[in-house]
Amino acid sequence: MSRREELIVGLDIGTTKICVIVAEQTENGIDIVGIGTHPSRGLRKGVVVDIDATVDSIKHAVEEAELMADYEITSVFAGIAGSHIQGFNSHGVVAVKDREVRESDVKRVIDAAKAVAIPMDREVIHVIPQEFIIDDQDGILEPLGMSGVRMEAKIHIVTAAVSSAQNVVKCANKAGLNVMDIVLEPLASAEASLQDDERDLGVCLIDIGGGTTDVAVFADGSIKHTSVLGLGGYHISNDIAVGLRTPFEEAERIKKKFGVAASRFLPSDDVISVPSVGGRRPRQVSRKILCEIIEPRVDEILSLARRSLVTAGMENRIPSGVVLTGGCSALEGLLDLAEEIFEAPVRPGIPTDVGGLQDVVRSPMYATGVGLALFGSAQGRDGRRQSRFRIRDESIFSRVRQRMRDWFYGDFD
Ligand SMILES: Nc1ncnc2c1ncn2[C@@H]1O[C@H](COP(=O)(O)OP(=O)(O)OP(=O)(O)O)[C@@H](O)[C@H]1O
Ligand SMILES: [Mg+2]
Repeated sequence: MSRREELIVGLDIGTTKICVIVAEQTENGIDIVGIGTHPSRGLRKGVVVDIDATVDSIKHAVEEAELMADYEITSVFAGIAGSHIQGFNSHGVVAVKDREVRESDVKRVIDAAKAVAIPMDREVIHVIPQEFIIDDQDGILEPLGMSGVRMEAKIHIVTAAVSSAQNVVKCANKAGLNVMDIVLEPLASAEASLQDDERDLGVCLIDIGGGTTDVAVFADGSIKHTSVLGLGGYHISNDIAVGLRTPFEEAERIKKKFGVAASRFLPSDDVISVPSVGGRRPRQVSRKILCEIIEPRVDEILSLARRSLVTAGMENRIPSGVVLTGGCSALEGLLDLAEEIFEAPVRPGIPTDVGGLQDVVRSPMYATGVGLALFGSAQGRDGRRQSRFRIRDESIFSRVRQRMRDWFYGDFD
């Protein structure tokens, strides 16, 4: 495979699918040049619970993306989610040396804001400046070179359970990949699906995936609130499986084909055939009954997302409304139900503003993967791109050995 420089790879380790997005840096953004997806078997509620199964899925998705992009993937930007994620705001104050803000002052004030007690079992994954206040002037996003004597920084800190973050890195490493950085999934999804004017005015991004629902609020151009709930499409399908006494895979299929978020949005009350378990004959069930099973769960997910906004004092800070993404946002009627619950306009979040294979990634399921690649591209522009998590050498060797074996004996699995 050819080796091109500067390709950026996003690795979205989701609860239902692993998605690898390969992107090429261009002058005005990124072009998608490769995509690989594979069902994910080793995660529960967004957290790795089976390393070997996850590594196996990652390898398959990576291989598919490598073939499509004709590029050997060695480094990735990996996503992280799960209800262990905590985001909170903090602030710090320093005196400005020499009465003009230099880079060292910015570093000092962020360090001061970062100086909060973080428990031993938690790791800081993001420190994002929200705004700087110099003397009495607030709302400053770029303080370098400004005059003043006193500078205050407001920042958003995201922490994750050390073990969960380590498992993400471990899985990538075992699949032969370097992890450039770990990125919070809602931040990545936001990168791909929000417009700048929405972020300025105030917007809430909700990514309803298979095992998690991610919430991120932006206002005044910066992140204000993040949280991850351990609920998603898996729970809806599980309710259908139990309620209609049908295998999980059938419940999943029925949900996607006939499911509607609430029965009042049902276009017509047809009768559907539902396979039974244990070799019994299929049954005829009204679609209204299916909706009555789906509705309480979807209502719960959206209400909990709204409650997380209210707790953070953000429910009145989102005049641009809500952007819904993640696989579940394709559920019929979900946008209408979300409009009722949030009492705000709701639009679907689909990755836009990327070139290359943009038609293929034009689905809410790819928002996180594309966002991870965009995140990597932004780090490169700022000259900050460097690997935070080094791969262990033996993983590289084992990958090379495996590759050579495949060349000589063919890949039979
Ligand atoms: N048309 C559809 N209607 C309803 N649900 C759908 C549809 N298409 C996909 N889904 C659901 O979306 C979910 C998968 O979404 P997504 O790919 O965003 O999850 P993930 O990234 O793997 O998981 P997570 O982000 O929670 O770790 C599944 O539960 C699937 O049933
Ligand atoms: Mg996801």
